[in-house]
Amino acid sequence: MQTLNLNGHQLPILGLGTWKSARGEVYTAIKEAIKIGYRHIDCAAIYANEKEVGKALKEVIDEGIVTREELWITSKLWNNMHGEENVVEALQKTLNDLQLEYLDLYLIHWPVAQRKLFVSASKAKHFLSLEEMPIANTWKGMEKAVELGLTKTIGVSNFSVKKLEDLVANSKIKPVINQVEIHPYFQQSDLVDYCQANNIHVMAYSPLGSSDRPAGLKAEDEPVLLEDTSIKELANKKGISVAQTILAWDIHRGISVIPKSVNPARLKQNLEAADITLTNEEAAIINEIDLNRRYVDGSFWEVPEGPYTVQNLWDE
Ligand code: A2P
Repeated sequence: MQTLNLNGHQLPILGLGTWKSARGEVYTAIKEAIKIGYRHIDCAAIYANEKEVGKALKEVIDEGIVTREELWITSKLWNNMHGEENVVEALQKTLNDLQLEYLDLYLIHWPVAQRKLFVSASKAKHFLSLEEMPIANTWKGMEKAVELGLTKTIGVSNFSVKKLEDLVANSKIKPVINQVEIHPYFQQSDLVDYCQANNIHVMAYSPLGSSDRPAGLKAEDEPVLLEDTSIKELANKKGISVAQTILAWDIHRGISVIPKSVNPARLKQNLEAADITLTNEEAAIINEIDLNRRYVDGSFWEVPEGPYTVQNLWDE
């Protein structure tokens, strides 16, 4: 599989997402995925399934199916653990749950800070503004995690160009990745161009439109990506699935992808997409269908009198 070079570390261009993978399902999915050739697993503390992911990882390593060095494991710092002094503590909990000694990549999950006592936040008093808890301060903890050998590389998720510029200007170790929502209905070309020009790789979450999102994160009128007629037509012409066409389009853009599945047939199908190439003309068909439509719009961080709004989150 094609890899991306992140400060000398090789990131497989396609990995497995675990957001929304239920406990009871994720263990089998990880074992199956690694058996068939997945080498990158994308995790996060807030997905509340890292212990089960860790059990599966330990078993595949113990069974000799794969070595730790062949795997790329990503995880993310949750909002209530921002702050220089909290990062290593949060990462150590994640490592403990995943039964690993180090991560390959650790990300700041959101540019949103919550008070340490509140893992979930629904009221203004649960949050800290970025003036009270600056990203640059949290990043110092991320840098310390690299220095301690707890993670090979560090990056961010859900960052705008403006927030990336601020971070790059205030960091010793530069972020290697910005993991953001990207799919044909939300292509983020300006952000992708900025990142690629500044040596920050882009990783696409919700590449298939995350139709298994909780109801609270869904709008009634939303367009269904996997039913798009232009992509269907192209997929039929190439004799591949719609999901494969979308994943191959991301890879064509130099963007790594982490489609989630807990289904063996779909795991296999998605993995095979890493070997499918689109011509520039085929990619152009998908470039045409951008709706600038986020599925994960961040409005859940907006509470009355709270410090975050959709506008200041995305700097739009
Ligand atoms: P499942 O886990 O049952 O396979 P995203 O990666 O954008 O979050 O999308 C995940 C959703 O897409 C899940 O509902 C997942 O279901 C479904 N999915 C994953 N792979 C495919 C595929 N190849 N074809 C259709 N649906 C897929």
